[in-house]
Amino acid sequence: MQLYITPDDAVNKKVIADAKAAGYTAVVISIDAPAAGKSDEVIRQGYKFPKLPKPYLQHGIKSGLDWDDVKMVMRESGLPVLIKGVTTPELADEAMRRGLAGVIVSNHGGRQIDGLPGSFDVLPSVVKAVKGRGVVLVDSGFRRGADVFKALACGADAVGIGRPVLFGLAVGGWEGVQSTYARLAEELAFTMNVAGVSTIAEITDKFLIEPKNV
Ligand SMILES: Cc1cc2nc3c(=O)[nH]c(=O)nc-3n(C[C@H](O)[C@H](O)[C@H](O)COP(=O)(O)O)c2cc1C
Repeated sequence: MQLYITPDDAVNKKVIADAKAAGYTAVVISIDAPAAGKSDEVIRQGYKFPKLPKPYLQHGIKSGLDWDDVKMVMRESGLPVLIKGVTTPELADEAMRRGLAGVIVSNHGGRQIDGLPGSFDVLPSVVKAVKGRGVVLVDSGFRRGADVFKALACGADAVGIGRPVLFGLAVGGWEGVQSTYARLAEELAFTMNVAGVSTIAEITDKFLIEPKNV
């Protein structure tokens, strides 16, 4: 369950309890969006959030999150907790030292602010900092199966896809969403075939021109 922490502690606790009761098995705290995105592209498109089914967000999103907020989520949920929006090895290392289950390397699809490093560029240093103590997921800008292959080769455990799902939805409804995933899977299988591997475990940094996570 992806959680935005609101300034209202009671609301946070209720959302976490509801998520737990609904059977969620992990909580992701997004830490990179204390306010709606203001990248040039977001402004150019005049993007406005539709009314989303997250009524708790009427309470706003808390600014200046700290580790006490993370501790609260760990305590209240009793579930594995990840933070999303990590772009530095220092933060990834601290997250591991504080007992988090993993990190999600993300610049929020480049939608929050311009000039952040790309997720793919910082991924190897985050993988190195995590040192296998937790999972490393990555998103932002992954569009092709070959992109997924490269992220796995850099040591990511999984790759998140954002807007391509919406593109599929806009073009073809649920079938469009299915076709987005099918195309990515096909492209990944093709890339694996060309690389001569048949399992995800065989996708290692030996396929990178410059091994970055050694
Ligand atoms: C319309 C839209 C809404 C989003 N809402 C959230 C959100 O509520 N929480 C969150 O953590 N990330 C949110 N994101 C960011 C995505 O989770 C993800 O990090 C990003 O889209 C990945 O990049 P990509 O779109 O290039 O694949 C949103 C992205 C879009 C495009």
